[in-house]
Amino acid sequence: MKILVTGGTGYIGSHTVVELQSKGYEVIIVDDLSNSSIEVLDNIAKISGKRPLFEKFNLVDPDKTYAFFKLHSDISAVIHFAAHKAVGESVELPLMYYRNNIASLVNILQGMISNNIRDIVFSSSCTVYGQPDTLPVSEETAVQKAASPYGNTKQICEEIITDTSFSSNIRGILLRYFNPIGAHETALIGELPLGVPNCLMPYITQAASGKRPFLRVWGHDYDTPDGTAIRDYIHVVDLAKAHVIAVERLCNANGKDKIETFNLGTGNGYSVLEVIKSFEKTSGVKLKYELNDRRPGDVVKIWADTSLANNELGWKAEKGLDEMTDSAWKWEMALANKIAK
Ligand code: UD1
Repeated sequence: MKILVTGGTGYIGSHTVVELQSKGYEVIIVDDLSNSSIEVLDNIAKISGKRPLFEKFNLVDPDKTYAFFKLHSDISAVIHFAAHKAVGESVELPLMYYRNNIASLVNILQGMISNNIRDIVFSSSCTVYGQPDTLPVSEETAVQKAASPYGNTKQICEEIITDTSFSSNIRGILLRYFNPIGAHETALIGELPLGVPNCLMPYITQAASGKRPFLRVWGHDYDTPDGTAIRDYIHVVDLAKAHVIAVERLCNANGKDKIETFNLGTGNGYSVLEVIKSFEKTSGVKLKYELNDRRPGDVVKIWADTSLANNELGWKAEKGLDEMTDSAWKWEMALANKIAK
């Protein structure tokens, strides 16, 4: 079976391509390489012994997207990752975010419908919950007004897929990720942030390797045991595996509804200081950090109720925090060695 992975050279996309290929799926990637590198294809091939098919274009272009789907009407399902994802940038450039993240989805759905392709897995985020009143947060928890245009595009895209399913044969699984971190155990693929990272894990590894002078811990007076904010960090490989299961569920028509939503996390919350502690233990490196003011827009604490994904998908995150920080550090070291060569 042939699976289209949009954004397949990106962070979560590349790990998902590896998992799909290891299960025997044929993969075709569409990516405009705006936030990833073509070399990722070689590294996917090194890990899985197979180079995925690849086409470079931006799915915002309707003509290119429709021509692509016409040519590849034998695609069995789509996993849609391709999107801009920087919260701060989305506040500065909202139209770029709305055009890119929403128009591409509309074009994909039109291309699917025209070619009778039914199944789509969508890359959503726990950001749709904002700061929930009760924890852990389940899929039943009300979606809150988005705090940024980026978050809003995730909410709108979920609604577009749902609305489209009412009037067509489109079926979808919306996967709400908590905080994906870590890298593949081979250290051949991982997160490649452009410029200064916003997210915690790449900032930690870059500060530890000397690329950044030190880490700023955003907020240390929160109502949490150690005062720092709490998130549900999940290993990217565990996350990737859930996509393969979601595709299988759609293709085998095992779902209970045309549109299903699942939280993907571990169910455990860790504070920023706990992540730092784990990193220092697994890497053996003492991290330089400073306690700073809060970052505007941050939620205090969130972690997932994963029982729906556990029971319905038969999926459970297997890797713990130490495996996440260890693999993230090995990836950072592999990058440093590559640059040194
Ligand atoms: C961010 C996005 C969220 C997105 C998610 C995907 C924001 C506000 N939210 O979530 O919409 O879906 O990534 O991965 O950007 N931290 C520091 N110092 C740093 C960086 C982070 O202390 O240099 C802290 C943050 O304050 C937070 C935690 O680490 O408490 C995690 O931050 P981050 O990795 O940026 O993820 P989120 O903010 O949870």
